[in-house]
Amino acid sequence: MFKSLVVAPCAALLLMLSPMAAKAAEPIVIKFAHVVADDTPKGKGALLFQKLVRQRLAGQVDVDVYPNSTLVGDADEMQALLDNKVQMLAPSLSKLIEYSPKLEVFDLPFLFDDDAAVARFQKREASRELLRSMAGRGIYGLAYWNNGLKQMTASQPLRNPADAAGLAFRIQPSPLLEAQFAAVDAKAVRLPFSEVSKAMQSGTVQGTEGPWSNLRGQSAAGKPSYVTETNHGVLNYMLVANSEFWTSIPFALRSELENIVLEVTQTVNAEAAAINQREREQLIASGSATLVTLTPEQRQAWRTKMQPVWKSFESQIGADIMRAALTVNRR
Ligand code: LMR
Repeated sequence: MFKSLVVAPCAALLLMLSPMAAKAAEPIVIKFAHVVADDTPKGKGALLFQKLVRQRLAGQVDVDVYPNSTLVGDADEMQALLDNKVQMLAPSLSKLIEYSPKLEVFDLPFLFDDDAAVARFQKREASRELLRSMAGRGIYGLAYWNNGLKQMTASQPLRNPADAAGLAFRIQPSPLLEAQFAAVDAKAVRLPFSEVSKAMQSGTVQGTEGPWSNLRGQSAAGKPSYVTETNHGVLNYMLVANSEFWTSIPFALRSELENIVLEVTQTVNAEAAAINQREREQLIASGSATLVTLTPEQRQAWRTKMQPVWKSFESQIGADIMRAALTVNRR
């Protein structure tokens, strides 16, 4: 009784003197938005991050996840991050080149032999530097999250580069991807991810590219859909936070958040290939797309057509970074 009599007026006095004291008890809320479904590598990663933060930092930090462009989408998510309207995103690397042009290295067609080579590159110093490269723009790079190698979807089978000529392909906002499709005489149309299915159905575009986990629902209405297994490029992500927000989190909490980021990153990157493999099987089994596999000669023909774009982007990316990326294939 004595205690409450003494403590209660003291606490009331404190709250009157310092309105911030009342606020300190409220958890820090991280809004984490993204543009894909919950059951994709990124979607699962966001939910695992939320779960671990709720388990380990309950009452101190909370995470709200907004999938499928429900809060912000490709057109406005970066501005929302910079304005601290959302605190975390995981855009594909192609969507960050406006802020760090050297990230175009990840868009070079036929650069990486497989997922493992990309993973090795992401651990190299060149990639670690790219992770930090947007700090001056208010973007704090936390980790690389994998999705996987890209395939091409179209309303007709694409076996040889000439099959793509005259078709319009939806691309992410990347000049290099534009050049990649120009190299096979195709047209590239920049569209937000949330508009791809509609654009395929209306015929605005006749093709797309993406990892297996992103291809669901991206077929032309009333037309057969073909997925050519090209593995011609990579679509991975950078987990980013608003710099000012992230660095203002008290040290002990931030350290624990960064431990959680590390743990989630390991899980996302360990599971991405299996998720894509499962999506591949389901897409083919569902009959919604026909698989087109390339012979080594056909794949080489695509490579020969597209590889000249490397040279055109070398000065932007930097010969050193391109060399570092190439060496990871030889393991
Ligand atoms: C795309 O726009 O195709 C991808 O970046 C979507 C995503 O986040 O996987």
